[in-house]
Amino acid sequence: MSTNAAEPDPAPADDSPTPGLPAAGTEPVELDATLRPKQVFPEPPVLESHGPARVIALCNQKGGVGKTTTTINLGAALAEAGRRVLVVDFDPQGALSVGLGVNPHELDLTVYNLLMQRDVAIEDVLLKTSVAGLDLLPGNIDLSAAEVQLVSEVAREQTLARVLAPVLGEYDIVLIDCQPSLGLLTVNALAAADGVIIPLECEFFALRGVALLMDTIYRVQERINPRLEVEGILATMYDSRTLHSREVLARVVEAFDDKVFHTVIARTVRFPETTVAGEPITTYASSSTGAAAYRQLAREVLAP
Ligand SMILES: Nc1ncnc2c1ncn2[C@@H]1O[C@H](COP(=O)(O)OP(=O)(O)O)[C@@H](O)[C@H]1O
Ligand SMILES: [Mg+2]
Repeated sequence: MSTNAAEPDPAPADDSPTPGLPAAGTEPVELDATLRPKQVFPEPPVLESHGPARVIALCNQKGGVGKTTTTINLGAALAEAGRRVLVVDFDPQGALSVGLGVNPHELDLTVYNLLMQRDVAIEDVLLKTSVAGLDLLPGNIDLSAAEVQLVSEVAREQTLARVLAPVLGEYDIVLIDCQPSLGLLTVNALAAADGVIIPLECEFFALRGVALLMDTIYRVQERINPRLEVEGILATMYDSRTLHSREVLARVVEAFDDKVFHTVIARTVRFPETTVAGEPITTYASSSTGAAAYRQLAREVLAP
């Protein structure tokens, strides 16, 4: 005698899998590189008017993690999406300016003059770039002196915010490319910002230093700028072929969860090439996967 007859059928006939087709209710979910369900970000709405700008600082005290590359290419992708974008070169290296085809060492006026000289207006310093809708506030080695000279200024942490204020109404997004340090220039960028994007290279020790950066962000938020938020952590230089890259990314998602952008920027030689070309990847190699990644990041940043 069997007791099975009294039990509910564990697999009703009409739910049984058809060979070649997934069983009902168990469609495989497509995962992205962060191993979370793949997200599609909508095309951002067309804007009828512009401003006031959302200000985002690109920050990580580690060098070579993709801050400048992200500022250029996110900026260009946002401009392509019809946003008016200002990118600010806030690193004395001037790599942002160079990457947009400007030799900053030949300029008479840069963001340094704007910070230190009351008689310089931001309109005198701004430059158009080859990308429609993308303007540049250039910077060069002079900026390294500002770090020292600002110390004796009144409201020294607010200087960048003060000089950007007159043009915020004309832009939709301002991206500030920070130098690789947590000094006074970076604090100025955080004081001027609504949000922070933290690029993280998918390499060993990527997370080392992030706690200190977060601590700096929270201190600025508490003492100077309550608007400040972490927009997200952006995984860069990702190589899907290496277990190592995949492990680092999994770790980052484990640690920061929904603060990690779904968009992941893969490692490709196209990015160093664009620096030499002096233009963003969205125009230099418009149909490349790198350009597509930054377009997706632009949609993710603009997503409601
Ligand atoms: N996704 C990427 N793949 C390959 N090389 C990259 C990538 N992103 C940036 N690079 C290169 O790595 C170097 C450092 O990038 P950069 O954006 O200047 O970093 P940071 O501003 O944080 O110092 C540059 O030579 C840049 O061209
Ligand atoms: Mg840089």
